[in-house]
Amino acid sequence: MYSDQIVQGERAAPTQLLKRCKELRSIPDRQVLNYAEQWFPITEALGLGAASYLAVIVREIRVADGRQRETLEKILRHAAAISSDDLGLLRGATGGETVGPIHFRLFEQMCRKLGRVANAQNLLPETVRLRDAIRNLFDTFAGGIAAFRVIELIAYSVVEHQLPLFLAAERSEIKLYTRDKLDYIRLHLQIEGKHAAESDELVGLLHESGGDMPVFEEHVEYLASMFEAYWRALEVHVLG
Ligand SMILES: [Fe+2]
Ligand SMILES: [Fe+2]
Repeated sequence: MYSDQIVQGERAAPTQLLKRCKELRSIPDRQVLNYAEQWFPITEALGLGAASYLAVIVREIRVADGRQRETLEKILRHAAAISSDDLGLLRGATGGETVGPIHFRLFEQMCRKLGRVANAQNLLPETVRLRDAIRNLFDTFAGGIAAFRVIELIAYSVVEHQLPLFLAAERSEIKLYTRDKLDYIRLHLQIEGKHAAESDELVGLLHESGGDMPVFEEHVEYLASMFEAYWRALEVHVLG
């Protein structure tokens, strides 16, 4: 039913980066820091944007009634489920724990060995554009669902390429990471399948609630093109 978005989702996916990261045996730690500096603002924009989006849905709920209201409440629950994962509330970063850090902080902690990732001065223009696009989309009703749709569809392939990239990081010919030190990545490898299904539900519910599907499609297209440009720039920035 939503095959157009799947195609957009594939366009937004870091396919080439995944291919190149899988071939990596070693990479200087500074280059992985280059990567991390560009991913931190994106994972942060997603974490905060998804939380702020709940308020957007509540505004819609307040002026709705009947079936429409029921559908909107379902949308609220799915969006909140994804958001609470990202805030570290439902599934912990390490086995057995029920609560972990906010995911962008988990990413920051994982990257501490590399250096400081929250470094706004080093952002590529493509990173700034993508970050701002995510922020803006989560400010509108159809935009938030488009953001979830694109991001959750590609989220698995994002952490999938991060795994070999971080495992290859080296300083003075010594590897910096083992798999068990890559909490952020391991956690997301587990939860992203579920998020993709949840985002699919959200699209169905948007349709059911009489949401503006052409506007939604435009948002999906827009965000997919932002991601496409971002991955291309990031590939050159990190791998040359
Ligand atoms: Fe997350
Ligand atoms: Fe996710």
